[in-house]
Amino acid sequence: MPLILDSSSDSSIHSQAEREKSRRIHHDADVVVVGAGVLGAALAVALANQGRSVILLERSLKEPDRIVGELLQPGGYDALIQLGLQHTLEGIDAIPVTGYTVLYYDESVAIPYPTTATETIRPGSKTSGKPNKPEGRSFHHGRFVSRLRATALAHPNISVFETEATSLITCSYTNQILGVESLTGKIQKDYFFGSLTVVCDGYASKFRKSYIHHTPQVKSKFWGMELLDCPLPTPQHGVVVLGKNSPVLLYQIGTHETRVLVDVPEGLPSTSTANGGIKGHLQKVVLPSLPPAVQPSFQMALEKGVLRSMPNSFLPPTMNRTRGLAILGDALNMRHPLTGGGMSVALNDVVLISELLSPENVADLANTDLVLKQFRLFHWRRKALTAIVNILAQALYSLFAANDWQLKYLQKGCFRYFQLGGRCIDEPVGLLGALIRRPFVLLYHFFSVALWSIWILIQENGLLLFPLSLVQGLLILWKACVVIFPYIFAELRS
Ligand SMILES: Cc1cc2nc3c(=O)[nH]c(=O)nc-3n(C[C@H](O)[C@H](O)[C@H](O)COP(=O)(O)OP(=O)(O)OC[C@H]3O[C@@H](n4cnc5c(N)ncnc54)[C@H](O)[C@@H]3O)c2cc1C
Ligand SMILES: *[C@@H]1O[C@H](CO)[C@@H](O)[C@H](O)[C@H]1NC(C)=O
Repeated sequence: MPLILDSSSDSSIHSQAEREKSRRIHHDADVVVVGAGVLGAALAVALANQGRSVILLERSLKEPDRIVGELLQPGGYDALIQLGLQHTLEGIDAIPVTGYTVLYYDESVAIPYPTTATETIRPGSKTSGKPNKPEGRSFHHGRFVSRLRATALAHPNISVFETEATSLITCSYTNQILGVESLTGKIQKDYFFGSLTVVCDGYASKFRKSYIHHTPQVKSKFWGMELLDCPLPTPQHGVVVLGKNSPVLLYQIGTHETRVLVDVPEGLPSTSTANGGIKGHLQKVVLPSLPPAVQPSFQMALEKGVLRSMPNSFLPPTMNRTRGLAILGDALNMRHPLTGGGMSVALNDVVLISELLSPENVADLANTDLVLKQFRLFHWRRKALTAIVNILAQALYSLFAANDWQLKYLQKGCFRYFQLGGRCIDEPVGLLGALIRRPFVLLYHFFSVALWSIWILIQENGLLLFPLSLVQGLLILWKACVVIFPYIFAELRS
């Protein structure tokens, strides 16, 4: 028998080694996390920092090469800092983001993240030592995820396995989830066990179906290309191009690289094969609508021909009710990526969960009653922020992709509203930046935009047509309600 010295530091090192062995050899831990994406990697580190023993499973540890998750809003960046993971965005040529510029036909309006209101609208954020100016970051997604994974790989309380989860292990008697079955190197079956299994396998989650009864709704796709040395109207701003087509997003993701994402609604006639497919659409419809300075690099990228697409999904959140299981990230909840909110939701969720599941609140994660109770709290508490991000993304997308006359008025009204400046941009961009946690601010501005649109209509129609304006105005207001209320109701469900 080896002699074990009875000093506390030695015994903790000893138990740490024991737990490492238990993960490596017996595949047993407090938590098994499925998917080392933005949410999974950050959550693994947050729980491991609290002394939990964590197994992290990822089907491919190669640097991801994707067109998603490239702009982190300031509210998400704050969460990353709170998690002690700020270093993951250093040294990867990330670009500071200080706001948005919206182009509407030939006009434009710059919408910086609000500086002055910072203290009042960012409750709980530590402003000391940080500039009082909210900033986001944009970057190559794969570089960020690789840095998050590297942090997990280096953590003494985490063991990372490159393996593809294939099914959940359910106790046939209690229906509790006990862990995960997986396939390593496409041939070897493996089994991993934990008191809590967290499924965060992304937008195409294979595990959600059995536990979540909504299916993602997809009304459009984003087609992405990488532009080289593309001059943008405002440095360090994300750019939104509005007009008669669906919206186009542009933002720098490196010193020389700019991401362009073109929203293409399902079944658009100009993308038919007769019209040259998606390339024909980008060439004939999208290119001419872009600012002249952007057109040469867009043309070059088109000629290079590296085109990729992703579905833009909406999936309302569902409460986790299964013992031993939590579904999180895109697997749980998605909104249109127009507003770049997904990673901010994911990272703020990690902050909230690590608070609710901290050893002070839940001494033992095997206490499934208590864990489920904490996930009930999680479902409602996260809404202060995520309901805003979800509803805003969906409602704004309807306006920006306007496909009928009422929506076109709302779109114009929205742009004219931004032109008013002051509170009419500070709070909307504060909502978009995941900085404001008061859902009523969203309702207030949404209906202010609707009323402003009606006022524009009345002015355009003139005094003689006032009775007509009244009818049309009511139809616009009705449309605004039809746009937003379904998404509000989706948030009120458990
Ligand atoms: C076109 C587009 C653009 C977007 N742009 C932005 C943006 O600018 N800003 C923003 O904040 N958000 C953006 N998003 C949303 C953002 O990408 C997601 O919200 C975020 O990546 C979700 O993180 P996640 O960890 O849940 O999923 P992911 O990051 O997708 O991670 C899932 C991980 O699970 C792994 N995995 C999957 N199945 C298995 C399995 N069976 N076994 C083991 N591992 C598995 C995958 O390999 C992956 O690593 C965008 C989304 C889209 C579609
Ligand atoms: C790992 O877990 C132990 C508890 O077993 C804890 O004391 C230690 O701080 C954790 N390590 C890190 C780096 O967080």
